Amino acid sequence: MAAGQRGQFITFEGIEGAGKSTQLERLVDRVRATGQELLVTREPGGTPLGEKLRGLLLDPSIGTMAAETELLLIFAARAEHLRHCIEPALARGAWVFCDRFTDASFAYQGAGRGLGAEKVAVLEDWLQGDLRPDLVLLFDVSARLGLERAVNRGKRDRMESEDLAFFERAREAYLERARWQPERYRVIDGSADVATVGVAVDEAWSEWLSRAAKGHRPLGGR
Ligand code: TMP
Repeated sequence: MAAGQRGQFITFEGIEGAGKSTQLERLVDRVRATGQELLVTREPGGTPLGEKLRGLLLDPSIGTMAAETELLLIFAARAEHLRHCIEPALARGAWVFCDRFTDASFAYQGAGRGLGAEKVAVLEDWLQGDLRPDLVLLFDVSARLGLERAVNRGKRDRMESEDLAFFERAREAYLERARWQPERYRVIDGSADVATVGVAVDEAWSEWLSRAAKGHRPLGGR
């Protein structure tokens, strides 16, 4: 990447149990091996305050929370993350891998909680300006399989306590966003084993890198 150029912002999305975090780790090794500076982070979280907010958001003992409170807490954590981590990293040319970002708010709060995409978009425009991920790797599994995997992992946080219909709405919202802007999204079937999904990720990644190098995509644009 040329000196002074903004870094690439890549996010990993999918419902619970889709396998995104495992695949993120695999890709981290691949990118780090090239010598590219990489910030690996997550949402909600990524800053000391953001991690505290994450604790509140996922704490099952909190029980129900108004959907608006949930969305605003998530964007409060996101504002910290953007100003203190993501924006400075991109500005110095680092690449950023983020385990979930605003697509998750469209999926979980916009669709899952039923707040609607417009409210999420208002906060997105306000806090992010023109910043959107350059690439979204969307790991797709059925809500049933995803929840089964989440249950088998043994932990059940506040979000994971939602019912199947919630995750079906979230999944559909993710897929709809991918259909809407296919140039920025790569949908990966997450239902296979880790190695098979890894092959699909490697293919999608190589294809995206070569397109980016040819300048088919605006770097860092909407
Ligand atoms: P995970 O990062 O371990 O998958 O869990 C984070 C949880 O937070 C997950 O259930 C999705 C949820 N979440 C939202 O509901 N909205 C958001 O905008 C983000 C980033 C996460």
